Amino acid sequence: MSNKNIYYNIFSEFYSVNKYRELKNMSHHGNNRLDHINRVSKMSFYLSKKMGFDYISCTRGALLHDFFTVEDISRSNEKYNDFLHEHPRISLNNSKKYFELNEIEEDIILSHMFPIVKGKPNYAESKVVCFSDKIISVYEFFRYQLKLSVNLIALLFIK
Ligand SMILES: [Fe+2]
Ligand SMILES: [Fe+2]
Repeated sequence: MSNKNIYYNIFSEFYSVNKYRELKNMSHHGNNRLDHINRVSKMSFYLSKKMGFDYISCTRGALLHDFFTVEDISRSNEKYNDFLHEHPRISLNNSKKYFELNEIEEDIILSHMFPIVKGKPNYAESKVVCFSDKIISVYEFFRYQLKLSVNLIALLFIK
């Protein structure tokens, strides 16, 4: 089976759940949360497979690392700073509600915000996701900034 097929096989279990599909409608770093999750998960999949780690747990954990919706956040009444700290726990609760998780996958979700949030990754697979999330977030942030600047410049020309 090709890497692409293996990846989408893992993904399809999650995508069959309604609440997970809602991530498509959530905004995240200037695009939708599902796109962000897929970028982080694909990178985690390839890195962990290359390095001989448990790439299935690594990919599953990555696919669930930001599994939360707007309602989850407003329900828990978070301020942005709290949200940074709380969303791994919220994502873990959601994940456990819908899916069967192993210890590695739980650790991946809880530790993905390290070092901003306390709690070091305990497994190699968690370190891979923590690293991939940072790289992808920086990439998405600059892509978003670039898009904004291009739009602003376009506006100036239109005027
Ligand atoms: Fe996150
Ligand atoms: Fe993330």
